[in-house]
Amino acid sequence: MVAMSDTVTLTIDGKSVELPLITGSEGERAIDIGKLRATTGLVTIDAGFKNTASTLSGITFLDGEKGILRYRGYPIEQLAEKSTFVEASYLVLYGELPTKEQLANFRERLTMHSLLHEDMKHFFDGFPAKGHPMGILAAMIGSLSAYYPDSLDPDSDTDLHIARLMSKVSTIAAFGYKRSIGQPFMYPKNSLDYGENFFRMMFGVPSEDYEPDPLAVAALNALLILHIDHEQNCSTSTVRLVGSSDASIYASVSAGISALWGPLHGGANQAVMNMLREIRDSGGDYRGFMEQVKDKSSGRRLMGFGHRVYKSYDPRAKILKTMADKVLPKMGASDPLLDIAQELEQIALKDSYFVERNLYPNVDFYSGITYRALGIPENMFTVMFSLGRLPGWMAQWREMNQDPRHVIGRPRQIYTGAGERNYVPVGDRKGK
Ligand code: ACO
Repeated sequence: MVAMSDTVTLTIDGKSVELPLITGSEGERAIDIGKLRATTGLVTIDAGFKNTASTLSGITFLDGEKGILRYRGYPIEQLAEKSTFVEASYLVLYGELPTKEQLANFRERLTMHSLLHEDMKHFFDGFPAKGHPMGILAAMIGSLSAYYPDSLDPDSDTDLHIARLMSKVSTIAAFGYKRSIGQPFMYPKNSLDYGENFFRMMFGVPSEDYEPDPLAVAALNALLILHIDHEQNCSTSTVRLVGSSDASIYASVSAGISALWGPLHGGANQAVMNMLREIRDSGGDYRGFMEQVKDKSSGRRLMGFGHRVYKSYDPRAKILKTMADKVLPKMGASDPLLDIAQELEQIALKDSYFVERNLYPNVDFYSGITYRALGIPENMFTVMFSLGRLPGWMAQWREMNQDPRHVIGRPRQIYTGAGERNYVPVGDRKGK
């Protein structure tokens, strides 16, 4: 639901221009500047898109001041507590909670597509065993387009690609881990659900039965749901931008994985663990650490704190914190790094530097601790984020692709380089 009746008037050089005002379904307002250059010769500049909406979207609503996050209208707290990753993914992808039959069909589709082409198994031999799993994941997902060339046609069966991607990503992630520890691959098992299957592929061995801990499966389920979508973040914007050139969904998602990898985005979950360990190894020198992260010249930040959109507590971090507090002890997983994280959080929340800048824990502050308790190795934390974020990336790609008004993404710039000058042959140039 978008209202476009109002306008705003902009006065430039004494001339007035009327620009449409758009109002979203939750009352957010935006000035549509699409025709500004044509009418005034001006562009707008907004480094890092801090104040620019790149699209209309009906998938996720986020209010960073109030700490609200909803997928398709449903509060994240309800979904994390009551839904499953597969069901919530269906909701995000297709807009409505599935009926029993729709859910059963979706599950079956995922099961049918979980195997990798046998040739792709050889790819794993080509990577160094200690290569970062995010580099391997991005390469493997990009390679899927070579196995499914129909995906190069933007009008091909998107839902089929979605099912393939969603089930194959967990197989690829688990195979990559098995290869890194020198164990045989565990093939997916049709009778298991998404989480059980993933744990079995990660931690099972062919010679023995494997029963994942139901609490661990429930924790993984909630973790994945919390990560499904987060509107136009860095990786999702990347997926949309790549997809806007009509690149395949596999190529677009592979680019999203690379964008997620950076420590300022999804890579923060791994960086948080390094930080907590550093504090532990310094004998708990919180003060010294806090001084460093507040000193801009140190180039350091309190990882897992701060967010472009949330200016209050990230609701996902709230859920994760409760989960880490309650669920982990039940799993027999006490972790001294959790105590350090809690202590650090308390110190930061009382520190005027963080208070004045509205810096609160984000989703990555507690997710690493939880993954650790589930036995996931640290270099796979951002891979886990990718597994969770995948349905969101695909829903955003699909939404864009189905919108007949979508155009290729291509920002403008303000040029600040040299003025026109004449070419000088190398022998005639001054200097050594
Ligand atoms: N530690 C110390 N200072 C911080 C932090 C932090 N974690 N985050 C922001 N600040 C400070 C900045 O130095 C800046 O201070 P100033 O106003 O005195 O210059 C102010 O707070 C605003 O920060 P910006 O960098 O302008 O905020 P931006 O929206 O560009 O960045 C970001 C958001 C990248 C998440 C930032 O908060 C950060 O680097 N956090 C640490 C990394 C992290 O946890 N990333 C995961 C984010 S969640 C996700 O992507 C899944």
